[in-house]
Amino acid sequence: RKKLKLGLFGFGCVGQGLYHVLHETHGGVQAEIKKICVKTRNKERILPDHFFTFDRAEILNDPEIDVVVELIDDASVAYEVLKTALAHGKAVVTANKKMLAEHLEEIYHLQKKYNKPVIYEGAVCGSIPILRNLEEYYDNDLISSIDGIFNGSTNFILTKVFEEKKSYAEALKTAQELGFAESDPSLDVKGFDPKFKLVIAIAHTFGLFVKPENVINIGIDHISDLDLKFAREKGYTIKLIARAFKQNGNIYGFVAPQFVDTHNPLASVRNEYNAVQVQGAFAEKQLFIGKGAGSYPTGSAVLSDISALSYDYSYEYKKLHQETGLTFSNNLLLDA
Ligand code: HSE
Repeated sequence: RKKLKLGLFGFGCVGQGLYHVLHETHGGVQAEIKKICVKTRNKERILPDHFFTFDRAEILNDPEIDVVVELIDDASVAYEVLKTALAHGKAVVTANKKMLAEHLEEIYHLQKKYNKPVIYEGAVCGSIPILRNLEEYYDNDLISSIDGIFNGSTNFILTKVFEEKKSYAEALKTAQELGFAESDPSLDVKGFDPKFKLVIAIAHTFGLFVKPENVINIGIDHISDLDLKFAREKGYTIKLIARAFKQNGNIYGFVAPQFVDTHNPLASVRNEYNAVQVQGAFAEKQLFIGKGAGSYPTGSAVLSDISALSYDYSYEYKKLHQETGLTFSNNLLLDA
């Protein structure tokens, strides 16, 4: 099998995690990093200088590079990179939740137009292979709801505040130091990050494109001391819950802090762990739990996408195809 040549955009927490995970699979995934496009000059890096470039074109115009792995912060630059990469015949792996949530429908059509895949398991709930699993349900009419904890940083903060009586500011600082938080942590705290993930999950659960502005997000910054006191007295915990459900033919979605009874399995999901509950008509409740943030867990989800490309595995758009009748063919041509 041909070894996939990767061009990376960004080499932060997730990029470096990907590098380590790829390295430590000892050739298990047939892929190698050829070039990495970064923004900041004169920075100490774990790889030799020849790996790095500051010029996007060096990756996008390189005919040898099969896959662009986009792991940068800026959603508009990320979208430009994605479009150019597809137009240049490259597959794209991305973990950019904001960019995906804002442009999912266009990205779906771009894939069709250029006949190249965009996959993004690393964008939703870190290490949990939730998109792949959602695509495996034989009939999405039978899924009535999806909910859970979609943000690692805020779950980490809530755990520290509740169980260790740490201050909110101290817990946030630790979440940042551990590489869980977004570079703008208000995206976590105000519930935007889990909302972006919910929007992506809604597409793969219900076959529906929704815009982030149509989903309500209330963050953990709305939790008052009185809420904490009430929860402690009643023996509840508080979790930032993302939820989408079907009712009378409509789909509703929101992100908001909720009191959670200790009998609820979500109560025991702690620190940077995420959880996704899928409610199906016949399968009933299913619960997926795993690390939702951090360098290696997210790096491993990104690597799972690269691995999927290396065996030409298409999953992301089956559901949307069933729902919309639009066709999409994942056809990354590789030498046998
Ligand atoms: N800031 C995100 C989180 C990173 O805390 O869940 C993973 O998407």
